[in-house]
Amino acid sequence: MKSVLVYYSQTDSTRKVARAIRDGVREETGQCDLFTVKQAKELDLFGYDLVGLGSPIWMGAETPNLRIWIDALPHQSGRHAFAFNTHGVMPELYFPSLVRRLEYKGFTVLGTRDWFGEARFQTAASPYYTTGHPDEVDLQEARDFGREMARNSPRVAASETALVPPVPELAWTPQLQILFEFFKTGHNPHGYMTYDRSKCNYPKCRICVDNCLMQYIDFDKEPRRYGSCGDHCDMWMGCTFCEAVCPTGAISCDWEAQEKRNVSGGFRVGGNALHDGALKMIEEGRLRMKLPLESIDWGHQFRHEHPKHPRYKVPKKEPDEI
Ligand SMILES: Cc1cc2nc3c(=O)[nH]c(=O)nc-3n(C[C@H](O)[C@H](O)[C@H](O)COP(=O)(O)O)c2cc1C
Ligand code: SF4
Ligand code: SF4
Repeated sequence: MKSVLVYYSQTDSTRKVARAIRDGVREETGQCDLFTVKQAKELDLFGYDLVGLGSPIWMGAETPNLRIWIDALPHQSGRHAFAFNTHGVMPELYFPSLVRRLEYKGFTVLGTRDWFGEARFQTAASPYYTTGHPDEVDLQEARDFGREMARNSPRVAASETALVPPVPELAWTPQLQILFEFFKTGHNPHGYMTYDRSKCNYPKCRICVDNCLMQYIDFDKEPRRYGSCGDHCDMWMGCTFCEAVCPTGAISCDWEAQEKRNVSGGFRVGGNALHDGALKMIEEGRLRMKLPLESIDWGHQFRHEHPKHPRYKVPKKEPDEI
Protein backbone atom coordinates (compact mmCIF):
# COMPACT_ATOMS: atom_id res chain seq x y z
CA MET A 1 0.00 0.00 0.00
CA LYS A 2 1.34 3.45 -0.96
CA SER A 3 0.33 6.73 0.69
CA VAL A 4 0.99 10.43 0.18
CA LEU A 5 0.09 13.61 2.07
CA VAL A 6 -0.29 16.96 0.31
CA TYR A 7 -0.69 19.99 2.53
CA TYR A 8 -0.30 23.74 2.81
CA SER A 9 0.85 25.48 5.97
CA GLN A 10 1.55 29.19 6.18
CA THR A 11 2.75 29.50 9.77
CA ASP A 12 3.73 25.91 10.63
CA SER A 13 0.79 24.49 12.64
CA THR A 14 -0.60 22.37 9.81
CA ARG A 15 2.92 21.33 8.86
CA LYS A 16 3.51 19.92 12.37
CA VAL A 17 0.24 18.00 12.19
CA ALA A 18 0.97 16.77 8.64
CA ARG A 19 4.37 15.43 9.74
CA ALA A 20 2.78 13.63 12.71
CA ILE A 21 0.09 12.04 10.49
CA ARG A 22 2.83 11.04 8.05
CA ASP A 23 4.71 9.37 10.93
CA GLY A 24 1.54 7.49 11.95
CA VAL A 25 0.96 6.20 8.41
CA ARG A 26 4.63 5.14 8.23
CA GLU A 27 4.38 3.29 11.55
CA GLU A 28 1.52 1.28 10.09
CA THR A 29 2.74 0.67 6.53
CA GLY A 30 6.43 1.60 6.43
CA GLN A 31 5.93 4.32 3.81
CA CYS A 32 4.28 7.72 3.37
CA ASP A 33 5.40 10.59 1.14
CA LEU A 34 4.85 14.19 2.22
CA PHE A 35 4.62 17.18 -0.13
CA THR A 36 3.51 20.76 0.14
CA VAL A 37 0.96 21.89 -2.44
CA LYS A 38 3.76 23.75 -4.22
CA GLN A 39 6.00 20.67 -4.33
CA ALA A 40 3.05 18.57 -5.52
CA LYS A 41 2.44 20.69 -8.63
CA GLU A 42 3.47 17.89 -11.00
CA LEU A 43 2.61 15.01 -8.66
CA ASP A 44 0.90 12.05 -10.32
CA LEU A 45 -1.37 10.28 -7.81
CA PHE A 46 -1.53 7.22 -10.05
CA GLY A 47 0.63 4.90 -7.89
CA TYR A 48 -0.97 5.92 -4.57
CA ASP A 49 -3.74 4.06 -2.72
CA LEU A 50 -4.29 6.65 0.03
CA VAL A 51 -4.07 10.44 -0.21
CA GLY A 52 -4.21 12.79 2.79
CA LEU A 53 -5.03 16.44 2.14
CA GLY A 54 -4.74 19.29 4.62
CA SER A 55 -4.44 23.03 5.13
CA PRO A 56 -5.26 25.70 7.67
CA ILE A 57 -8.87 26.86 7.67
CA TRP A 58 -9.24 30.18 5.93
CA MET A 59 -12.63 31.89 5.87
CA GLY A 60 -14.16 28.62 6.99
CA ALA A 61 -12.68 26.62 4.11
CA GLU A 62 -9.52 25.06 2.64
CA THR A 63 -6.89 27.49 1.36
CA PRO A 64 -7.35 28.40 -2.31
CA ASN A 65 -4.03 26.86 -3.44
CA LEU A 66 -5.18 23.46 -2.16
CA ARG A 67 -8.60 23.94 -3.77
CA ILE A 68 -7.04 24.80 -7.14
CA TRP A 69 -4.75 21.76 -6.86
CA ILE A 70 -7.69 19.44 -6.16
CA ASP A 71 -9.80 20.94 -8.95
CA ALA A 72 -6.99 20.30 -11.46
CA LEU A 73 -6.85 16.56 -10.66
CA PRO A 74 -8.34 14.03 -13.04
CA HIS A 75 -11.28 11.94 -11.79
CA GLN A 76 -10.00 9.61 -9.02
CA SER A 77 -12.24 6.55 -9.53
CA GLY A 78 -12.70 5.75 -5.83
CA ARG A 79 -9.08 6.31 -4.68
CA HIS A 80 -9.01 6.61 -0.87
CA ALA A 81 -8.51 10.02 0.71
CA PHE A 82 -8.74 11.70 4.09
CA ALA A 83 -8.71 15.36 5.07
CA PHE A 84 -7.27 17.31 7.99
CA ASN A 85 -6.76 20.89 9.06
CA THR A 86 -5.72 23.24 11.82
CA HIS A 87 -7.77 26.26 12.77
CA GLY A 88 -8.65 28.97 15.24
CA VAL A 89 -12.14 29.11 16.71
CA MET A 90 -14.25 29.04 13.53
CA PRO A 91 -13.88 25.58 11.96
CA GLU A 92 -17.45 24.94 10.79
CA LEU A 93 -17.49 24.93 6.98
CA TYR A 94 -14.26 23.16 6.08
CA PHE A 95 -15.16 19.46 6.04
CA PRO A 96 -18.78 19.81 4.85
CA SER A 97 -17.51 21.59 1.73
CA LEU A 98 -14.15 19.84 1.20
CA VAL A 99 -15.49 16.29 1.56
CA ARG A 100 -18.17 17.05 -1.05
CA ARG A 101 -15.50 18.50 -3.33
CA LEU A 102 -13.33 15.39 -2.91
CA GLU A 103 -16.24 13.03 -3.51
CA TYR A 104 -17.15 14.98 -6.64
CA LYS A 105 -13.56 14.36 -7.79
CA GLY A 106 -14.13 10.63 -7.33
CA PHE A 107 -12.30 10.09 -4.03
CA THR A 108 -13.72 7.84 -1.33
CA VAL A 109 -13.19 9.85 1.86
CA LEU A 110 -12.21 7.61 4.79
CA GLY A 111 -12.06 10.25 7.50
CA THR A 112 -11.56 13.84 8.60
CA ARG A 113 -9.84 15.33 11.65
CA ASP A 114 -9.08 18.84 12.83
CA TRP A 115 -6.81 20.38 15.44
CA PHE A 116 -6.43 23.82 16.95
CA GLY A 117 -3.41 25.74 15.68
CA GLU A 118 -1.54 28.92 16.54
CA ALA A 119 -3.42 31.92 15.14
CA ARG A 120 -0.76 34.20 13.72
CA PHE A 121 -3.04 36.18 11.44
CA GLN A 122 -2.29 39.78 11.93
CA THR A 123 -5.57 41.04 13.36
CA ALA A 124 -6.02 38.13 15.80
CA ALA A 125 -5.73 38.86 19.51
CA SER A 126 -2.23 37.86 20.61
CA PRO A 127 -2.00 35.61 22.53
CA TYR A 128 -5.03 33.81 21.13
CA TYR A 129 -7.45 31.21 22.47
CA THR A 130 -5.52 28.50 20.62
CA THR A 131 -1.98 29.63 21.52
CA GLY A 132 0.27 26.63 22.28
CA HIS A 133 -1.55 24.28 19.86
CA PRO A 134 -0.82 21.92 18.31
CA ASP A 135 0.92 20.48 21.38
CA GLU A 136 2.22 16.97 22.13
CA VAL A 137 -1.30 15.69 22.88
CA ASP A 138 -2.52 16.99 19.50
CA LEU A 139 0.46 15.51 17.68
CA GLN A 140 -0.07 12.10 19.29
CA GLU A 141 -3.70 12.28 18.12
CA ALA A 142 -2.45 13.15 14.65
CA ARG A 143 -0.13 10.12 14.62
CA ASP A 144 -3.02 7.91 15.78
CA PHE A 145 -5.22 9.36 13.04
CA GLY A 146 -2.58 8.52 10.43
CA ARG A 147 -2.39 4.96 11.72
CA GLU A 148 -6.18 4.64 11.68
CA MET A 149 -6.46 5.86 8.08
CA ALA A 150 -3.66 3.51 6.99
CA ARG A 151 -5.35 0.57 8.77
CA ASN A 152 -8.79 1.36 7.36
CA SER A 153 -7.79 1.78 3.74
CA PRO A 154 -7.14 -1.93 2.96
CA ARG A 155 -10.22 -2.91 4.97
CA VAL A 156 -12.44 -0.59 2.91
CA ALA A 157 -10.77 -1.92 -0.23
CA ALA A 158 -11.76 -5.40 1.00
CA SER A 159 -15.44 -4.26 1.10
CA GLU A 160 -15.76 -3.09 4.74
CA THR A 161 -17.61 -0.03 3.44
CA ALA A 162 -19.24 0.62 6.85
CA LEU A 163 -15.87 2.18 7.80
CA VAL A 164 -16.54 5.07 5.39
CA PRO A 165 -18.12 7.87 7.47
CA PRO A 166 -21.09 9.95 6.25
CA VAL A 167 -20.39 13.35 4.65
CA PRO A 168 -20.16 15.87 7.54
CA GLU A 169 -23.26 18.04 7.98
CA LEU A 170 -23.02 21.81 8.06
CA ALA A 171 -24.22 23.20 11.39
CA TRP A 172 -25.12 26.86 11.90
CA THR A 173 -23.04 28.62 14.58
CA PRO A 174 -22.82 32.32 15.51
CA GLN A 175 -19.30 32.50 14.08
CA LEU A 176 -20.73 32.01 10.60
CA GLN A 177 -22.22 35.50 11.03
CA ILE A 178 -18.64 36.80 10.74
CA LEU A 179 -18.22 35.13 7.37
CA PHE A 180 -21.51 36.67 6.22
CA GLU A 181 -20.25 40.08 7.23
CA PHE A 182 -17.01 39.56 5.30
CA PHE A 183 -18.84 38.30 2.20
CA LYS A 184 -21.18 41.30 2.34
CA THR A 185 -18.27 43.74 2.15
CA GLY A 186 -17.11 42.07 -1.08
CA HIS A 187 -13.41 42.70 -0.51
CA ASN A 188 -10.37 41.54 1.43
CA PRO A 189 -11.22 42.29 5.07
CA HIS A 190 -7.79 43.87 5.44
CA GLY A 191 -8.11 46.18 2.45
CA TYR A 192 -5.46 46.41 -0.29
CA MET A 193 -1.88 45.32 0.31
CA THR A 194 0.55 47.59 -1.55
CA TYR A 195 4.16 47.27 -2.66
CA ASP A 196 6.84 49.97 -2.59
CA ARG A 197 9.71 49.03 -4.90
CA SER A 198 12.03 51.66 -3.41
CA LYS A 199 12.10 49.75 -0.09
CA CYS A 200 12.55 46.31 -1.67
CA ASN A 201 15.84 44.35 -1.68
CA TYR A 202 14.97 41.97 -4.53
CA PRO A 203 16.81 39.91 -5.83
CA LYS A 204 18.96 39.77 -2.67
CA CYS A 205 15.77 39.06 -0.78
CA ARG A 206 12.98 36.95 -2.28
CA ILE A 207 11.05 35.93 0.85
CA CYS A 208 7.65 37.15 -0.36
CA VAL A 209 8.17 35.67 -3.83
CA ASP A 210 8.93 32.24 -2.38
CA ASN A 211 6.16 32.33 0.22
CA CYS A 212 3.10 33.66 -1.59
CA LEU A 213 0.76 30.68 -1.64
CA MET A 214 -0.94 31.96 -4.79
CA GLN A 215 2.32 32.71 -6.61
CA TYR A 216 1.03 36.23 -7.15
CA ILE A 217 4.51 37.82 -6.88
CA ASP A 218 6.91 37.91 -9.82
CA PHE A 219 9.72 40.47 -9.56
CA ASP A 220 11.60 39.15 -12.61
CA LYS A 221 8.91 40.69 -14.84
CA GLU A 222 8.96 44.38 -15.78
CA PRO A 223 6.92 46.06 -14.49
CA ARG A 224 7.17 43.88 -11.39
CA ARG A 225 4.03 41.92 -10.61
CA TYR A 226 2.76 42.06 -7.07
CA GLY A 227 -0.46 40.64 -5.64
CA SER A 228 -3.76 39.38 -7.00
CA CYS A 229 -4.24 42.56 -9.07
CA GLY A 230 -0.71 42.86 -10.49
CA ASP A 231 0.23 46.01 -8.58
CA HIS A 232 -1.59 45.36 -5.29
CA CYS A 233 -3.13 42.42 -3.49
CA ASP A 234 -6.81 42.10 -2.66
CA MET A 235 -6.76 38.44 -1.69
CA TRP A 236 -10.39 38.04 -0.59
CA MET A 237 -9.70 35.46 2.14
CA GLY A 238 -7.61 37.99 4.05
CA CYS A 239 -4.05 36.76 3.51
CA THR A 240 -1.48 39.36 4.55
CA PHE A 241 1.51 37.03 4.79
CA CYS A 242 3.89 38.95 2.56
CA GLU A 243 3.42 42.02 4.76
CA ALA A 244 4.30 39.93 7.81
CA VAL A 245 7.42 38.29 6.36
CA CYS A 246 8.91 41.24 4.48
CA PRO A 247 11.99 42.38 6.43
CA THR A 248 12.00 45.95 5.08
CA GLY A 249 8.39 47.15 5.23
CA ALA A 250 8.19 47.29 1.41
CA ILE A 251 4.73 45.70 1.59
CA SER A 252 2.10 47.49 3.59
CA CYS A 253 -1.54 47.65 4.52
CA ASP A 254 -3.66 50.48 5.90
CA TRP A 255 -4.18 48.90 9.31
CA GLU A 256 -6.01 51.89 10.79
CA ALA A 257 -8.65 51.84 8.06
CA GLN A 258 -8.92 48.09 8.54
CA GLU A 259 -9.57 48.47 12.26
CA LYS A 260 -12.31 51.04 11.67
CA ARG A 261 -13.99 48.74 9.15
CA ASN A 262 -13.97 45.81 11.56
CA VAL A 263 -15.44 47.80 14.43
CA SER A 264 -18.49 48.63 12.31
CA GLY A 265 -18.74 45.68 9.96
CA GLY A 266 -16.50 42.77 10.84
CA PHE A 267 -15.87 40.37 13.65
CA ARG A 268 -17.16 42.64 16.39
CA VAL A 269 -20.69 42.70 14.95
CA GLY A 270 -23.20 42.05 17.78
CA GLY A 271 -20.35 41.47 20.26
CA ASN A 272 -17.39 39.30 19.38
CA ALA A 273 -18.62 36.05 17.85
CA LEU A 274 -15.08 34.60 17.92
CA HIS A 275 -14.92 35.15 21.68
CA ASP A 276 -18.39 33.63 22.14
CA GLY A 277 -17.38 30.68 19.94
CA ALA A 278 -14.22 30.11 21.97
CA LEU A 279 -16.21 30.17 25.23
CA LYS A 280 -18.62 27.58 23.85
CA MET A 281 -15.76 25.30 22.74
CA ILE A 282 -14.14 25.57 26.17
CA GLU A 283 -17.47 24.75 27.86
CA GLU A 284 -17.96 21.73 25.61
CA GLY A 285 -14.45 20.50 26.47
CA ARG A 286 -13.39 20.82 22.84
CA LEU A 287 -10.80 23.55 23.34
CA ARG A 288 -8.08 22.96 25.94
CA MET A 289 -6.82 26.49 26.47
CA LYS A 290 -3.13 26.60 27.40
CA LEU A 291 -3.32 30.12 28.82
CA PRO A 292 -5.75 31.86 31.18
CA LEU A 293 -8.80 33.15 29.30
CA GLU A 294 -8.18 36.58 30.83
CA SER A 295 -4.94 36.90 28.82
CA ILE A 296 -6.96 37.30 25.58
CA ASP A 297 -7.20 40.98 24.72
CA TRP A 298 -8.64 41.94 21.31
CA GLY A 299 -7.09 45.37 21.69
CA HIS A 300 -3.67 43.68 21.46
CA GLN A 301 -3.27 42.02 18.09
CA PHE A 302 -0.51 39.96 16.48
CA ARG A 303 0.76 42.97 14.55
CA HIS A 304 0.89 45.05 17.76
CA GLU A 305 2.92 42.30 19.40
CA HIS A 306 5.31 42.30 16.42
CA PRO A 307 5.58 45.97 15.42
CA LYS A 308 8.97 45.53 13.70
CA HIS A 309 9.58 43.94 10.29
CA PRO A 310 9.64 41.08 9.72
CA ARG A 311 6.67 40.40 12.00
CA TYR A 312 7.07 36.69 11.30
CA LYS A 313 10.20 34.72 10.36
CA VAL A 314 9.59 31.78 8.06
CA PRO A 315 11.01 28.69 9.83
CA LYS A 316 13.74 26.64 8.16
CA LYS A 317 12.60 23.34 6.65
CA GLU A 318 13.61 20.03 8.25
CA PRO A 319 16.29 18.07 6.33
CA ASP A 320 13.79 15.38 5.26
CA GLU A 321 11.58 17.93 3.52
CA ILE A 322 12.00 18.69 -0.15
C1 LIG B 1 -6.28 34.51 6.15
C2 LIG B 1 -6.65 33.65 7.34
C3 LIG B 1 -7.98 33.25 7.52
C4 LIG B 1 -8.31 32.44 8.60
N1 LIG B 1 -9.62 32.03 8.74
C5 LIG B 1 -9.95 31.20 9.76
C6 LIG B 1 -11.28 30.70 9.88
O1 LIG B 1 -12.17 30.96 9.07
N2 LIG B 1 -11.57 29.87 10.92
C7 LIG B 1 -10.62 29.51 11.85
O2 LIG B 1 -10.93 28.78 12.80
N3 LIG B 1 -9.33 29.96 11.75
C8 LIG B 1 -8.99 30.78 10.73
N4 LIG B 1 -7.68 31.20 10.60
C9 LIG B 1 -6.66 30.71 11.56
C10 LIG B 1 -5.87 29.53 10.99
O3 LIG B 1 -6.73 28.53 10.49
C11 LIG B 1 -5.02 28.89 12.09
O4 LIG B 1 -4.22 29.85 12.67
C12 LIG B 1 -4.17 27.74 11.52
O5 LIG B 1 -3.77 26.89 12.57
C13 LIG B 1 -2.94 28.23 10.78
O6 LIG B 1 -2.27 27.12 10.22
P1 LIG B 1 -0.79 27.22 9.62
O7 LIG B 1 0.09 27.65 10.77
O8 LIG B 1 -0.50 25.85 9.17
O9 LIG B 1 -0.79 28.21 8.52
C14 LIG B 1 -7.32 32.02 9.53
C15 LIG B 1 -5.99 32.44 9.34
C16 LIG B 1 -5.65 33.22 8.26
C17 LIG B 1 -4.22 33.64 8.07
S1 SF4 C 1 -1.24 38.93 0.60
FE1 SF4 C 1 0.80 38.61 -0.27
S2 SF4 C 1 1.30 36.46 0.23
FE2 SF4 C 1 -0.92 36.69 0.46
S3 SF4 C 1 -1.82 36.15 -1.53
FE3 SF4 C 1 -1.48 38.38 -1.56
S4 SF4 C 1 0.54 38.65 -2.50
FE4 SF4 C 1 0.39 36.51 -1.83
S1 SF4 D 1 10.08 40.34 1.19
FE1 SF4 D 1 10.15 42.57 1.01
S2 SF4 D 1 12.30 43.05 0.57
FE2 SF4 D 1 12.01 40.85 0.22
S3 SF4 D 1 11.55 40.69 -1.99
FE3 SF4 D 1 9.60 40.85 -0.93
S4 SF4 D 1 9.08 43.03 -0.91
FE4 SF4 D 1 11.26 42.85 -1.40
